Amino acid sequence: MIWPFRKRPPPIRDRWDLSAPLFSINGRDTFTVGDACQGIQVFGSTGSGKSSAVVATIIRSYLSAGFGGLLLTTKPTDRDDYTRWCQETGRFDDLVIFSPTSDLRFNPIDAELRRQDAGAGLSENIVALLENITNIGERNQGQGGGQEDASYWKRTNRQLTRNSVELLTMATGKLSVPDLYRLVISAPTSRDQLRSEEWKNSSFCFQCLVEAERKPKSPQQQTDFELVADFFLIEFANLSDKTRSVVVSTFTSTLDVLNRGTIRELLGTTTNIRPEAALDGKLILIDLPIKVFGEVGMAVQILWKYCFQLAMERRDIRENSRPVFILSDESHLVAVAGSDQKFQSTARSSRTATVYSTQSISNYLTALGDKGDAAVYSLLGNLQCQVFTQQTDVKTNTYASELIGRTRQYLMNANNSYQTPNFFELFPDTQGQLSTGVSETYEYEVQPSVFATLRKGGPPHFQVDGIMYQGGRQFSQTGGPWTPVTFSQQF
Ligand SMILES: Nc1ncnc2c1ncn2[C@@H]1O[C@H](COP(=O)(O)OP(=O)(O)OP(=O)(O)O)[C@@H](O)[C@H]1O
Ligand SMILES: [Mg+2]
Repeated sequence: MIWPFRKRPPPIRDRWDLSAPLFSINGRDTFTVGDACQGIQVFGSTGSGKSSAVVATIIRSYLSAGFGGLLLTTKPTDRDDYTRWCQETGRFDDLVIFSPTSDLRFNPIDAELRRQDAGAGLSENIVALLENITNIGERNQGQGGGQEDASYWKRTNRQLTRNSVELLTMATGKLSVPDLYRLVISAPTSRDQLRSEEWKNSSFCFQCLVEAERKPKSPQQQTDFELVADFFLIEFANLSDKTRSVVVSTFTSTLDVLNRGTIRELLGTTTNIRPEAALDGKLILIDLPIKVFGEVGMAVQILWKYCFQLAMERRDIRENSRPVFILSDESHLVAVAGSDQKFQSTARSSRTATVYSTQSISNYLTALGDKGDAAVYSLLGNLQCQVFTQQTDVKTNTYASELIGRTRQYLMNANNSYQTPNFFELFPDTQGQLSTGVSETYEYEVQPSVFATLRKGGPPHFQVDGIMYQGGRQFSQTGGPWTPVTFSQQF
C-alpha cells in the first residue's frame, strides 16, 4: 500500500522556534510560539474566568518558555497575581517593578535621543513620539470638525515641536519634558522682547539659543542651528498673538500630561530601565494599576506600551530571537486607535506576543470613541487568536458567531394551514393543508446564545469553558478554525 505523502513538520531548533509548543488545547492541539506571536484577544463577561484561567494559562506558558515581557496592570491585585505567576514558573528573578515606590525610571524622549542604532537621535522620531502622546490625550475624543484647520494646526505644532527638540538637544545634549515646556513658554513673542535685557536674562529659550550658538558645530549642524534660530527669532516671534497662543497651548497641553507629579518623576527624569530589557528576558511590571492611579496610571501604561511596541519593531531577531509579550488585562483601557493596529500588523515578525483581555467589543467601541468601529475591527483582525468565555453582551456574541462563520444546515419543517373563511363566500367544507419539507439554510456554526451557557470556573471543578478561534487553523475537534476549549483555574 502506498501511503499518501505527508510533509513532516520542520524540526524544532530551539525553545523559541516558531513551532515550539507552549500549551496544549484540550490535549489534542498545541499552541505554539508562532501562534502566540500572532496575538490573542480574550473576551468574556465579568467573572467568566478570563484572568484566573485563560490569561493565567497563556502567560504562565510564556513565562515558562522564557519570554521577556511587559505586564500592564489594571486592578490593585494584578501585581500580586503576576508576581505569583513569575514565582511559580521560576521567573521571579527576571521581574522588575516600575512604580512610584521603586527606583526605576524611564524617560522615553531622552531614551529615543540616546538609542544605540542607526535611527538614534533623529528629531523626526522624537516628534512622532510626542505626537503620539497627543493622540493618547485625544484617544477618547473624536476627530473634531474642520479637517483642514486640524491639519494646519498639526503642521504648525509639529514645526514648533521639531524646532524645540532640536534647540534643546543642541544646547543641552539631553531632552526632557520639563525643559521642552520651559523652552516653549519662554520663546520670544515680539521683536521688542528681543531687545529687552530683562527678557533675555529670564528666557530659557534665549539661553538655549546662546548656548547652542557657542558650541562648536559641523557645517551641517551650523545650517540646522540657523534654521532653528530663524524659526524662534523671526517666524515664531512674528506670528499673530492668536495663532501663537493656539500653537503654544496645543503644545503645552500635549506635554502637560507628562509634566506633573508622579508622571514627571517616572517618565520625565532619568532612564534606568528601557523596553529593550525584555529582550534579555526581563519582565517589566508597570505597577500603577488604572483602578487606583486613574488617568495617571492610564497615561503611564499607554506610553510604556507604545514605547515597547516601537522598541520591538526595531529589534533584529537574527541577533536575539527571544519572544516577548505584552499583557494587558482590561485592554480597552489602554487601546490606542492607529498605533495598536499598525503595530499588530507586523507583531509576528518582531516576535511579540500580544495578550489582550476585555469583557466585550462594546468596551472597545466606547473607549475609542468616534474612531471606534474601524479601529476596533482592524485591531481585532490582526489578533489572530480569539478566545470567548461566558458572555452576555449581544454584540460580542454576534461578533463571535460571525467570526466562526456559517455552514449549510438542513432544517426539517412541518406546516399546517387552514384557509380563512371568506366573508362573502363561505365554504363550510374547507380542508386544512399539511405540508412538510426540508429546507437548506446557512446558519451560524455556533449560535450567539451558546456563549451565555459556558462554565465560569469556581468549585467544584474550577474549569472555565471557552470557544477558541484562530484564523487559518484546522483544529482536530472541528476540522475548522474554532474549537471548544477548557481552561483550568488550578495550576
Ligand atoms: N484561583 C481560583 N480558584 C477558584 N476560583 C477562582 C479563582 N480565581 C478566581 N476565581 C473565581 O472564578 C471566577 C472568575 O474570575 P476571574 O477573575 O478569572 O474573572 P474575569 O473574567 O477575569 O472577570 P473580570 O472581567 O471581572 O476581570 C470568579 O467568580 C472568581 O471569584
Ligand atoms: Mg479579569
